[in-house]
Amino acid sequence: MSRKNIIEVRNVTMRFGGVTAVSELSMDIPEGSIVGLIGPNGAGKTTAFNVITGFYRPTEGDVVFAGRRITGMAPHRICALGMARTFQNIRLFYNETALENVMIGRHVRRSGHWWGAVLGLPGTRREERDIREKSLELLRRVGLSAHADEVASALPYGAQRRLEIARALATEPKFLLLDEPAAGMNPQESLELMKFIRQIRDEFHLTILLIEHDMKVVMGVCEHIWVLEYGKLIAEGDAESIRSNPRVIEAYLGEDVNNVAD
Ligand SMILES: Nc1ncnc2c1ncn2[C@@H]1O[C@H](COP(=O)(O)OP(=O)(O)OP(=O)(O)O)[C@@H](O)[C@H]1O
Ligand SMILES: [Mg+2]
Repeated sequence: MSRKNIIEVRNVTMRFGGVTAVSELSMDIPEGSIVGLIGPNGAGKTTAFNVITGFYRPTEGDVVFAGRRITGMAPHRICALGMARTFQNIRLFYNETALENVMIGRHVRRSGHWWGAVLGLPGTRREERDIREKSLELLRRVGLSAHADEVASALPYGAQRRLEIARALATEPKFLLLDEPAAGMNPQESLELMKFIRQIRDEFHLTILLIEHDMKVVMGVCEHIWVLEYGKLIAEGDAESIRSNPRVIEAYLGEDVNNVAD
């Protein structure tokens, strides 16, 4: 891959006491690509996300984002540099409306100080209005405007997943990480999700890394896939080579990967 890399994971190891969750992982992700990280349960996928996004400082190795070493940087600073994520278990403010959830995401980008909001300064009020309008526009672009005023807990499951992605988009990321976005979705919803992932990549000029157990989704949207097992990289390549890789088939004991050709 000759394009510029937006993210480089360099030889990352993450240990928790005696457990090595991720072992010497390296990944180069080209700008504008949609790529995947797969592997059986407990393989270290979410841990890799947590290291990349700054939730964990790796025991060894480095993460370089847009040419800058971000190892050990706090998650909110990394987010401000243009990286956003969603979580394996959806994290929303369930008592807030869909619109408010997106507005919370947008606050990362606001320029004013918190005391402006407290004092109700005109500039701050203008900024609030601006955040509100941009958030509504974002909801429209992800097809959720009809739900803007509904509390998050009342949304159908697929819409909640979409809303979480919308909130991540509200931080204006260049690089988006999705942890099992198709989890709990029916085949029709997964199909729509695949279209949605491509659509937001194009519309928002993103690079997307996704963790996913739904092989149809992974193979369908990812141009490059890394496979972890027990924290170690056992294969990487395009969908075709991953699908036919004996080591990968063995890791999955012949499940999913074999049923994805159709
Ligand atoms: N904070 C932590 N403290 C201790 N061990 C952890 C911690 N986070 C993850 N682990 C361990 O690291 C290993 C990898 O976990 P991780 O959640 O990264 O796997 P995963 O590939 O995301 O699995 P799944 O598909 O089930 O989500 C597991 O053995 C897990 O128990
Ligand atoms: Mg996980």
